[in-house]
Amino acid sequence: MHCYRSALLRFAEDGSAVYDEDGLLVTAPDAAGVQRVVAAGPWNVLGRQYAEGVPVTHWPGRIIAPGFVDLHIHYPQTDVIGSPAGGLLPWLETYTFPHEARFADPQHAAAVARFFLDELARNGVTSALVFGTSHPCAVDALMQEAGARRLRLIAGKVLQDRHSPDGVRDDTEQGLLDTEALIERWHGRGRLGYAITPRFAPTSTPRQLAGAGEIAARHPDVWIQSHVAENLDEIRWARELFPDSRSYLGIYDDFGLLRHRAIYAHCIHVDDADRALMRERGAAAAVSPTSNLFLGSGFFDYASADRVGMAYGLASDVGGGTSFSPFRTMLAAYCVGREGQTKPGISLTPEQLWWQHTAGAARALGLAGTVGNLQPGCEADFVVLNPAATPLLARRTRAATSVAELLFAMIVLGDDRLVERTFIA
Ligand code: GUN
Ligand code: ZN
Repeated sequence: MHCYRSALLRFAEDGSAVYDEDGLLVTAPDAAGVQRVVAAGPWNVLGRQYAEGVPVTHWPGRIIAPGFVDLHIHYPQTDVIGSPAGGLLPWLETYTFPHEARFADPQHAAAVARFFLDELARNGVTSALVFGTSHPCAVDALMQEAGARRLRLIAGKVLQDRHSPDGVRDDTEQGLLDTEALIERWHGRGRLGYAITPRFAPTSTPRQLAGAGEIAARHPDVWIQSHVAENLDEIRWARELFPDSRSYLGIYDDFGLLRHRAIYAHCIHVDDADRALMRERGAAAAVSPTSNLFLGSGFFDYASADRVGMAYGLASDVGGGTSFSPFRTMLAAYCVGREGQTKPGISLTPEQLWWQHTAGAARALGLAGTVGNLQPGCEADFVVLNPAATPLLARRTRAATSVAELLFAMIVLGDDRLVERTFIA
């Protein structure tokens, strides 16, 4: 058993933040050797019950918080961050596809996978839903390394059998066979999970999307990830290629790719019928604000998502996204919420932003109560934050008069310097 004493942040069932100025987190290994939360709460209530005669790790002035969950990130795009282009499609052609072609080399893939996982940890991200490339060996490299680190990580081989250059384009049937083999090899091995990963509708033939849907039906607990309604040119292209579907999102539904555990990045240019379809199917959106701002894609409409009941969580979308840091992502999400030219501007609260990147993202993945929180039973993935990590952070957090003010100061001013340690269960 381990006892950790410091300030402690976690979330109630309704998404509200629970904060103990002087808290105690108690963890113990389960039968599989995974550390789980036994108790979390105020030191003056739990200290006697759990910490008497037991060594206690005490971090004065620090905050224990749930590890962050990144709902959508491309590990092969680590070296694509900050590549400017005239929007999504030129960015894919000019930078992304050439970079991804290099992942046919397993040694290159393994080296980038190690750097990528180090970077997640430095930024306090303990779980992620990750795109590989079309090369199965690139998924093997990531899974191997994530398994060695005992991470709860979900990843998949990209399916893209058309409108893609040599070096990243896969063969229709071979891509599906590789997907099946990777599910067998990695899904449910330790804490790892697999996601069926059609890149987006324009780069898969109807046959490949149909095959992906058949695999998804055979493996209902395997995840699905793709992109939808990010950019106006992309949407026009998708509609041309699939004129019989009601909408871009409707293409995925027509091929059986909308269901529980399906996560669609962006969902910017959607209508209420699309939002309702996401809700009915139990799918969720990965909101990727730094990417959407960098590529000029548009602004996710939070108020409409809430009005219709479409689920969502936060994502970096590196390398369209500009940062691995959940603090940068939460700040960008706040700014996207405020944007008031294309939709009414709203002010997301710091508790909402933080929840969307932890417990809310976990819920979108169907992993509520497993990761993204520090309630009893959760796997003990957590971060230790130093709210005095920089002079300005110290000054601003010291002056906070409420939990909301404290969280907001960290969201606006924070980055990897705020994350002192990252614990993996
Ligand atoms: N749409 C298809 N592929 C991609 C990608 O790699 N990044 C983003 N942001 N959108 C995509
Ligand atoms: Zn993406």
